[in-house]
Amino acid sequence: MNKPQVLVARAIFPETIARLEEHFEVESNQDDAAWSKAEFIARLQGKQGVFTTGSERIDGELLDACPDLKICANMAVGYNNFDVDAMTAHGVVGTNAPDVLTETTADFGFALLMATARRVTESEHYLRAGKWTKWAYDMFSGSDVHGSTLGIIGMGRIGQGIAKRGAHGFGMKVIYHNRSRLDAQLEADCKASYASKEELLKTADHVVLVVPYSAASHHTIGAAELALMKPTATLINIARGGIVDDAALALALRERRIAAAGLDVFEGEPKVHPDLLTVPNVVLTPHIASATVPTRRAMAGLATDNLVGFLTQGKALTPVNPAVLTR
Ligand code: GLV
Repeated sequence: MNKPQVLVARAIFPETIARLEEHFEVESNQDDAAWSKAEFIARLQGKQGVFTTGSERIDGELLDACPDLKICANMAVGYNNFDVDAMTAHGVVGTNAPDVLTETTADFGFALLMATARRVTESEHYLRAGKWTKWAYDMFSGSDVHGSTLGIIGMGRIGQGIAKRGAHGFGMKVIYHNRSRLDAQLEADCKASYASKEELLKTADHVVLVVPYSAASHHTIGAAELALMKPTATLINIARGGIVDDAALALALRERRIAAAGLDVFEGEPKVHPDLLTVPNVVLTPHIASATVPTRRAMAGLATDNLVGFLTQGKALTPVNPAVLTR
């Protein structure tokens, strides 16, 4: 019997390709070429599965043109690159990669918070530029992390990981805002208390965004929300580009209406709003929150398990539209 055919849309670990090849005819993009949508569609012809990374858009137009496609396995916990309704309508399963990246991503959220609050990259640039000629009492004074108030918007698994680091490791007072309130036990584990978005923005010293992207969460932080924040506050976005209005943020940073920001994700990435590149009080990283070798291996492994499980046994481990599986 012919093996199912699978397309791997981006360069990935050689071991991932080898494992997929045990089960499938695999076409891969190990050169990491930038495919146009037309080329992506052309390569998907005859493929039952596709391994995506979160950058490849799967929408109704693509699905109409790829009638053989049955599963799209994202190597990312976020899946806003999927039009889930269109996938469900076409009977195509989408899977994501939750859990395996939670602690690594929470570590990075904290790293970005520390770097931002304590002006790590700004001061390093100063040193590297040869500008450090003497110590000064007020040189690169930042804000304290320990003992401060941490406001988390989006209290899923990663948000909870950040809350625990803040409360248990740094003695922070943790407040959070989420679509739904956590149960009492989870709130106690995280030492976190629920707040309205407005109250959180007004009182937090550090605001961390970990909310999934959707039409409803677009520009969760815009000019009006930035205006509520303390002038000494920092804002961290490890969620998705589009959760923050980057133009409004750049202006608020330039006018020192908030103290600093740390951003791992950007509207329209990999492009970055030009104003963010010129303001000093922002730490910028290229969407690397889950980037440790073991975690990236685990994410690729879970995407592979989803493809193998579904195309060989009709079972997906982490479907985002499970209703398709029971049809
Ligand atoms: C990364 O951004 C992910 O969603 O896994």
